Amino acid sequence: MINRYTVIGQPIAHSLSPEIHALFGELTQRRISYTRTEASPEGFEEAVRAFQQAGGKGCNVTLPHKERALTVCDCLHASAEIAGAVNTIHMQRDGRLVGYNTDGKGLVADLSAGLQVPIEGRRILMLGAGGAARGVLGPLLERAPAEIMLLNRTEEKARALADRFTEFGSIHALPCTADLADLTPVDIVINATSMSLQGEVPSLDELTLDDDALVYDMMYAREDTPFVNWGKSRGVRAVHGYGMLVQQAAESFFVWEGVRPKVRMARKRFAAILANSH
Ligand code: ATR
Repeated sequence: MINRYTVIGQPIAHSLSPEIHALFGELTQRRISYTRTEASPEGFEEAVRAFQQAGGKGCNVTLPHKERALTVCDCLHASAEIAGAVNTIHMQRDGRLVGYNTDGKGLVADLSAGLQVPIEGRRILMLGAGGAARGVLGPLLERAPAEIMLLNRTEEKARALADRFTEFGSIHALPCTADLADLTPVDIVINATSMSLQGEVPSLDELTLDDDALVYDMMYAREDTPFVNWGKSRGVRAVHGYGMLVQQAAESFFVWEGVRPKVRMARKRFAAILANSH
């Protein structure tokens, strides 16, 4: 029997999830099919139900439906509850829809296993306080960084987000007027804003980076994003969210199929597929 999955979003044509999961199926010798489903906000719930009724075993949820998916699920795994968003739904045999969020695990796996960058004891500056930031803060704090500083255009949102997560570890919001030059050197800078989509870069030139700092843009792009270019111009290692994309997909695959694909091999193969699809 073939297990059926899909990714639901709008727009969805650009999603690489079908290719990644097809590769995972091949590497783990699981027979799966994985399609793209376009759904408007009003049509999201119906799209989920229709896929389930057609025998689907699970779906990924992407923009703009990750928060809406919370209410469509019958119960939530702690990962989705803490993130306040669902990116993976497991359609169980008894008909229940169980919501997970694998984004944060994906980021942490990419940092620690993929890039070999330790999180424990490190000073992290996170830019942005929207859904992308909220989705990853729980798993990051679980790894006990020395502190996470949140900096956002709308300061109030950064403060509210920091308050929500203080029970999980050391996190605080920086005032928008903070003099970045006064901060102790930062080890990891994560861009969780949507600025790269608009080709913009936060202005961080005053910031002091540790020599072995990592600049990480959560957005995935075929070419280096402006933020990645900024990191490189500062002379430190800078990457975009390709590894996170593959890792969060591997976590979803594990939720559904109970096996973990070998991500290192998948990354190499997938990079070759991407290069050839240019
Ligand atoms: P997502 O779910 O992708 O995080 P979002 O919830 O709309 O999307 O959040 C986008 C984030 O990018 C927010 O932190 C937003 O800042 P505000 O909270 O002030 O809106 C940030 N962002 C988007 N465009 C920006 C810009 N031009 N300059 C600075 N921050 C920007």
